[in-house]
Amino acid sequence: VAEPLVLGIETSCDETGIGIVRGRTLLANTIASSMDEHARFGGVVPEVAARAHLEALTPAIGRAVADAGIRLDDLDAIAVTCGPGLAGALMVGVAAAKSLAVALGKPLYAVNHLVGHVGADLLQGEGLREVAGTAGELELPTVALLVSGGHTSLLLVRDLVSDVELLGETIDDAAGEAFDKVARLLGLPYPGGPHIDRVAADGDPAAIRFPRGLTLPKDLARHRYDFSFSGLKTSVARWVEKAEAAGEPVPVPDVAASFREAVADVLTAKAVAACRDLGVPRLLLGGGVAANARVRELAGERAAAAGIELRVPPLSLCTDNGAMIASLGAQLVAAGSAPSGLGFGADSTLP
Ligand code: KG4
Ligand code: ZN
Repeated sequence: VAEPLVLGIETSCDETGIGIVRGRTLLANTIASSMDEHARFGGVVPEVAARAHLEALTPAIGRAVADAGIRLDDLDAIAVTCGPGLAGALMVGVAAAKSLAVALGKPLYAVNHLVGHVGADLLQGEGLREVAGTAGELELPTVALLVSGGHTSLLLVRDLVSDVELLGETIDDAAGEAFDKVARLLGLPYPGGPHIDRVAADGDPAAIRFPRGLTLPKDLARHRYDFSFSGLKTSVARWVEKAEAAGEPVPVPDVAASFREAVADVLTAKAVAACRDLGVPRLLLGGGVAANARVRELAGERAAAAGIELRVPPLSLCTDNGAMIASLGAQLVAAGSAPSGLGFGADSTLP
C-alpha cells in the first residue's frame, strides 16, 4: 500500500493521543491530557496517568475516527507506542492497540516513541508546512533534537525504519524537567516551561551566568553530545536561596531569562555541533521544549550561521500526540516491514 491508512495510539506519558493518517496526510489528531490531575502533585503521577488513559482511550478513538471521516474497517494498520515511557501508561495503550487489531483483523506495529517524534515531521498538509518554517519533504539523514519533560535526546536518523542512532542524551534530568523544577523554585505553576518562557521575556538573559552542563573540554571528550541539567537546577536554587537569605527580592524575570538562556545555549550548541561534525545539513526539533521561544530563536540563528536547515513541526505535533505514531506506522507499512504480531510488551526503558 503506497498511502496506507493508519491509526496511531500514544500513551507513554500523560497525553492520550489518537492520530489517523493516510500516508503523509494528517486526517485526525485527538489529544486528551490528564495534566490537570497531575498539576497539584507537581509532576506526572504514573498510576493516575494510566487510569486516565483507560478512561480516555475509547472516546478519543471515536472522536478521531469521526474527525477523519473514516470507518475503522478501512484501516490498513494500527501503530502503537511500546516505549520508552511510563510502564503502566504504555500498557494501557498497547493493550488497547492489540484488542483493536484483533477485533478488526488488522496488522499491528509497535513503534519507538522517540522515533515517532521524528515521524511528526513527515506529515504534509494544510498549515503544517508553513509553521515548520521550511517547505518540502524531510530529507535524510537528519539530526534530531528531542526535548520534553521525559527525554532529552540527540539522534542521527539515516532511515526512519532501520537506522536511527542515539548520539547522546541527558545523564540526569530532562530539559523539560529542569524547566518544571526551576519554575517551582520561582513559585510558578506546573508544568513550568511555558511560564518560565513567558516571564523570561521581561528579563535579562545576561543578568546571571548559570553553568552550561557538560561543555568543558574535559567533559566534551566523553560527553560531546550528552546533556546535564541537574547542576544548572542546583545552581539556580543556590542563587535564589542566597538572595532570600540576604533579604533581597528575587528578580524572577532575570533568573528565568538567565536560566532559559543556559538551557537554550547548550541544547542548540550541541545539536548544531553534531550536524557539523557529521556533515548533516539538517536539524529537526521535537518535544514540548521545542515550544520554547529562546530555544527556537537560538536554534534558528545558529542553524542559519552554519548553513543548516532547521525544521520545527507545529506545536500540536511537537508535543506528544498520536499522529506522529500513525505517521511512523504508515512509513513501516509503506516500506513493507513485517508487523509486530501480538507478542510484544511495553518497554519503559526502550533505547
Ligand atoms: O512533549 P511534552 O508535551 O510531554 C512529555 O514530557 O513527553 O513536553 C512537556 C514538557 C514539560 O516539561 C513542559 O514544561 C515543557 O515541555 N515545555 C516547555 C515549554 N512548553 C512546554 N519548556 C520550555 N518552554 C516552553 N515554552
Ligand atoms: Zn515525547
